[in-house]
Amino acid sequence: MTSALNIVVGVTGGIAAYKAVGVVRLLVRAGHRVQVIATEHALNFVGAPTWEAISRQPLATDLYTDVSEVRHVALGQRADLVIIAPATANTLAKLAAGIADDLLGNTVLATRAPVLVAPAMHTEMWQNPATVANVATLRERGIHIVGPESGQLTGTDSGPGRMSEPEDIVDAGLGLVPDAAGDLRGRRILITAGGTREPLDPVRYLGNRSSGKQGIALATAAHLRGADVELITASIDETLPNHVPSHGVQTAAELQRAVHTSLPAADIVIMAAAVADYRPVQVSETKIKKEERGDTLTLELEKNPDILAGLVPLARPEQIIVGFAAETSRDREHLLELGRAKLARKGCDFLCLNAVGWNDGFGADRNTVIILDATGTIVGEASGSKREVADAILTAITAG
Ligand code: CTP
Repeated sequence: MTSALNIVVGVTGGIAAYKAVGVVRLLVRAGHRVQVIATEHALNFVGAPTWEAISRQPLATDLYTDVSEVRHVALGQRADLVIIAPATANTLAKLAAGIADDLLGNTVLATRAPVLVAPAMHTEMWQNPATVANVATLRERGIHIVGPESGQLTGTDSGPGRMSEPEDIVDAGLGLVPDAAGDLRGRRILITAGGTREPLDPVRYLGNRSSGKQGIALATAAHLRGADVELITASIDETLPNHVPSHGVQTAAELQRAVHTSLPAADIVIMAAAVADYRPVQVSETKIKKEERGDTLTLELEKNPDILAGLVPLARPEQIIVGFAAETSRDREHLLELGRAKLARKGCDFLCLNAVGWNDGFGADRNTVIILDATGTIVGEASGSKREVADAILTAITAG
């Protein structure tokens, strides 16, 4: 699906080097040519045979091998993308200072390709003012940073400093080089993600459990396939992909305004956001006090507009409008029945139907969907990571 890229993966001396094996594996599996450059310290964690077997290429380590090929600049010049994973505090400092005392330092200085850095270190080192300043310098120079995540570190401590997961590093990296030959090139896709929040007072709101993961996965997948993506986010739990333009909204009314503004320029609209069906009739200007309200509190709610149903009559015939349906049925036939009824109510071109429950769908990394066309016919089904599901949805809605 994606054209093959020349990718340099620089591995430096941290325990997370073992996770970088996954980065190389995913890139090779996706059909890219990967040249691993390991620093001397990196080889203390994962040895040369592993890198060579996984990348299917001889490993590059030092400046004085193949000098006749001017390798210290050639690898950087040839690269379409450079990923450094893990990047230690020392590596960040060297990159910020432009130090080129090894093959990786030379390669980064010699490349014009996008550079993505995945830091990994202990929390104290990540939060040290020296590292903070180095990261700021790198960002200013246009170097992209993914992570680090918060979580269990080597040893017993936990906190920010854990290298991002291989899938996230690969998505962030490939997102910097949109596929020039992608099947969605030239398509403008508007995607909504997350859950709206309806304020009750300045500190409280009515919300829902949507994490925004499926909408964000759709935005990333569409971007990687060459589409021109705009993402509108209600409340989300996820980090926003930095390669997709996005803006945030809170309420259903704000989401409706944003979608209406962007509708004319879109070829496809995917309403993955979970929209509050009702909002409080009155929003208190001041914090609601329990002393004033007593033992029970009754909220009066009024209906929000149905954004999706409202888009259908506004859309031009060639525009494709896609809805989602989250239903709590476990029975497939009943689920399809609910989906077809919703499709008829909304009038959209496609409906992505998924079963949700207290523990399914929301916030999870995996999803299962059935894709229905306007007639209620099943035109796609997918079960897997939210990225895999996103790709299946994009394929089904653009197949015609
Ligand atoms: N949706 C919308 N505006 C609303 C409610 C939902 O645009 N006020 C959209 C969602 O973005 C989604 C689709 O409609 O694409 C279905 O959302 P869902 O919550 O499953 O359906 P509802 O219409 O809210 O019906 P119900 O909650 O009664 O099942």
